[in-house]
Amino acid sequence: MMEFVDTHTHLNDGKFDEDRAEAVARAKAAGVSRIINFGDTMQSSEAVVRLAEEYAGLFAGVGIHPEEACEMTAEDDARLAAWAAKPQVVAIGEIGLDYYWEKDAEKRLLQQRVFVRQLDLARQLHLPVCIHDREAHGDTLAILKKEARGMTGVLHCFSGSWEMAQEVLRMGWYLGVDGPLTYKNAAKLPEIVQKIPLDRLLLETDAPYLAPVPKRGKRNEPAYVVHVAEKVAELRNVPLGEIAAATTQNAMRLYRIK
Ligand code: NI
Repeated sequence: MMEFVDTHTHLNDGKFDEDRAEAVARAKAAGVSRIINFGDTMQSSEAVVRLAEEYAGLFAGVGIHPEEACEMTAEDDARLAAWAAKPQVVAIGEIGLDYYWEKDAEKRLLQQRVFVRQLDLARQLHLPVCIHDREAHGDTLAILKKEARGMTGVLHCFSGSWEMAQEVLRMGWYLGVDGPLTYKNAAKLPEIVQKIPLDRLLLETDAPYLAPVPKRGKRNEPAYVVHVAEKVAELRNVPLGEIAAATTQNAMRLYRIK
């Protein structure tokens, strides 16, 4: 049976309160044997760690999302580090910059401070990072080049140009793709997915958001990562099994999971 990894999802979200266990079961039935949930606040980070302890095949990333940026304390650092010591916690994320939602210059500076602080923490903890970058490509890349030397990670829900993709690949990092790849307005993303080396691609859902075609408009869930894989296979004109095997290997290599 083909195996897939949903490398970025949010099963802790309230939209799964009624059927979380069933969503995990549906994912496993679809071949999605591993799922990585990401926190976006201290509270949701605690929740994703708990989920990873509760379900086999679930892993967690912990961190503060740019939209939730607040001045971090030494206590926050210590809590993140304590979670990161658990075997099911495989990354710091999602962290980064979001200039789509944040137009205020001061608050963008706060996002940058929180981003850099968590990159430092990930470096100390020897963990990969999962990066959120929305309409902040220039600053994201500049910060990664300056502050993330020697580190590894993924630009999740990649929305940059081919030029930016090449910079990310030169750093040895990965690109994550999800539902938007399947949308009619996907713009330059399909071409990027055709061109990047297959050993740098990760599949994700970002559930409950961004459901891929043919589920677009519905609540997304990890089982639907298979539709993203199908789109990648179609674009690259290779069998689905090849995409499944390669992207599963990539996820296991980046996040050091078995
Ligand atoms: Ni996300």
